Amino acid sequence: MKTRLASVPLLLALAASAFASKEKPVIGLSLDTLKEERWQRDRDTFTAEAQKLGATVIVQSANSDDTRQVRDVESLISRGVDVLVIVPHNGGAMTRAVKSANEAKIPVIAYDRLIMNCSIDYYLTFDNVKVGEAQGGYAAARLPKDRKARIVRIYGAPTDNNAKMFKQGQDNILGPLIKSGKIDVIHEDWALDWKPENGKKIMNAAITRAGRNIDAVVVSNDGTAGGAIQALLEEGLAGQVLVTGQDADLAACQRILRGTQSMTVYKPLKNLATLAARVAVDVAQGRKPAAAAVLDNGVKKVPSIFEKVISVDKENLTATVIADGFHKAEDLR
Ligand code: GAL
Repeated sequence: MKTRLASVPLLLALAASAFASKEKPVIGLSLDTLKEERWQRDRDTFTAEAQKLGATVIVQSANSDDTRQVRDVESLISRGVDVLVIVPHNGGAMTRAVKSANEAKIPVIAYDRLIMNCSIDYYLTFDNVKVGEAQGGYAAARLPKDRKARIVRIYGAPTDNNAKMFKQGQDNILGPLIKSGKIDVIHEDWALDWKPENGKKIMNAAITRAGRNIDAVVVSNDGTAGGAIQALLEEGLAGQVLVTGQDADLAACQRILRGTQSMTVYKPLKNLATLAARVAVDVAQGRKPAAAAVLDNGVKKVPSIFEKVISVDKENLTATVIADGFHKAEDLR
């Protein structure tokens, strides 16, 4: 803090950015990772819309490293950005960085994933509970009814609040069926950092522990579903077991057409990223955009916006993901 204030060029930069914030705000976008295909699209759409509105975007990506992401945000603060948009790797660890932003009076928008126990100005995301309900509902409707169904559950990164919300949505549907004995969860685990190789490890462990007799694998996203399907492929089981996912990644849509993955949840990223850029520019220019909902992050009821999600399988892939221009038909072949 002291060294920041002692720097004359920095003070000039801060003054310049304060002056610029009316017409040409500077937005700091701090991403957890660019590994999943979706985040590259989020970044590109967000940046394009922000530039259209006259803003500049400085992007940082932390490669799933909390220390690095806190440092990224601190550096954006010291560069004098007018507003911060953050996709936290860890919704708990990022609290510290938001407190620094609060001290510097820089507004903060949590993008896609919530940041816990601190004062953020907005939370823009998809309806994450609905994502889980779509995954659980898809599996529940297709499980055998004449006997106890055997399922594996692969959750996301335990550091990501979204992963808990996806599970909560799945529980809303699967919970009563598990309780009444219609479904047996033969194995379940959390995939650290959403890594596909961790999805594969969990699937391997499930097969080793409970055998090959599996009806469905309820997986929380496409990346980890890809890992689980790799394990199923190696066992000669791919295509025989229902597998869920999320994100409509290109590889996942290809697997859906090939029959090794059953469904994904399509989140129209364009809507969220465009909206986030508009909200960021509004906030930077001192406006208070309306938010229809609030979500409690532990210390604050955060004004929130939830975008809709769409359940996609072989039947409606063309009418959704392709019709929307999210992927080109020729890329799916
Ligand atoms: C979640 C996000 C998902 C998925 C996952 C892994 O927070 O909502 O779309 O991509 O992270 O990055």
